Amino acid sequence: MTHVAVLPGDGIGPEVAAEAIRVLDAFGIEHSEHAFGGNAILAEGTPLPDDTLAACKAADAVLLAAVGLPELEGKPVRPEQGLLRLRKELGAYANLRPARGDGVDMMIVRELVGGLYFGEKGIREDGTWFDTCEYTRPEVERIARCGFEIAKSRGGRLTSVDKVNVMQTSRLWRDVVTAMGASLYPEVELDHALVDSFAMTIVQAPETIDTVVTENTFGDILSDIAAAVTGGLGLAASASLSDDGPGIFEPVHGSAPQLAGRGIANPAAMLRSVALMLQHGLGRPADAAVLEHAVDVALAEAPTPDLGGTSTTRDAGAAVLRALGAARTL
Ligand code: NAD
Ligand code: IPM
Ligand code: MN
Repeated sequence: MTHVAVLPGDGIGPEVAAEAIRVLDAFGIEHSEHAFGGNAILAEGTPLPDDTLAACKAADAVLLAAVGLPELEGKPVRPEQGLLRLRKELGAYANLRPARGDGVDMMIVRELVGGLYFGEKGIREDGTWFDTCEYTRPEVERIARCGFEIAKSRGGRLTSVDKVNVMQTSRLWRDVVTAMGASLYPEVELDHALVDSFAMTIVQAPETIDTVVTENTFGDILSDIAAAVTGGLGLAASASLSDDGPGIFEPVHGSAPQLAGRGIANPAAMLRSVALMLQHGLGRPADAAVLEHAVDVALAEAPTPDLGGTSTTRDAGAAVLRALGAARTL
């Protein structure tokens, strides 16, 4: 029996997770909810309690909404540390962040458990605070392989994004991607871009982009930009995959504290993450396509305020369930 561990988290997380749970029920998928993030810190002193981690490891997939509480920002123990640890513990190194919209269909493949996020960091005796960007060759090879495979399954074009004019790790990145392209993926059309000007390309010519592979921090920033040019963070979903074991499926957005408690967050990013879970985590691509379509129907029928509409989170979720029901009676 398929089992999904649901981590509602903080802020708008529980509000959009409630709609995801209704969709899981509609598909007959068993699930359980677990404490995670800021609420877990306040209740248990840690953002990733042991029983939550154990439940995630035992599940077929993890469905995560969002973490982050303003009152914990800058504190020694923070919700975001739980998210980074969960990704690391599950080995979820390949983060797929699709962005679709008017004539735009791009896929950002973000390295998720290395780079600047996980390099050595701290405060030296002389008072200098530091973070370091670190990658090993195998870490770059496995994410590059993922980028090439995804590009092959889509439009056949891959852009590798780095900062080779400045960063040492980018030299490794570019060498590895170039060598793998020549020896293993000659059929994929490969090009390289520097991250600063590529940010501009996402804004000015997003329709020219197919598949992108990039470092953790670059991917974090570029995926919010890609979301912004395709309808906003309310729509952007992601899948974080490992080579074995459960993946983590989560919106690109965070806990949006200004929207929390108002019942007006857009649940589309969360529900598209459920679709990515059906496709990449549970081996149910046909159901994924049905849900993707139902979300598109609901977006047109019941838009939330971020899209210029007046629907609540619940209204939008109900529209998705109606569209799913209609699809099933066909
Ligand atoms: P955010 O993504 O939470 O929100 C930025 C803005 O995007 C919001 O103010 C809102 O206008 C819009 N938005 C986001 N989600 C939306 C939705 N579903 N519907 C409609 N509009 C939406 O980014 P932030 O405000 O910079 O961060 C808030 C907190 O979230 C921080 O604590 C941060 O660390 C955390 N965060 C968590 C995750 C995660 O859990 N994966 C991701 C990003 C940020
Ligand atoms: C994201 C978020 C996280 C990240 C934070 C909350 C740790 O911004 O998933 O994009 O930086 O990876
Ligand atoms: Mn982010």
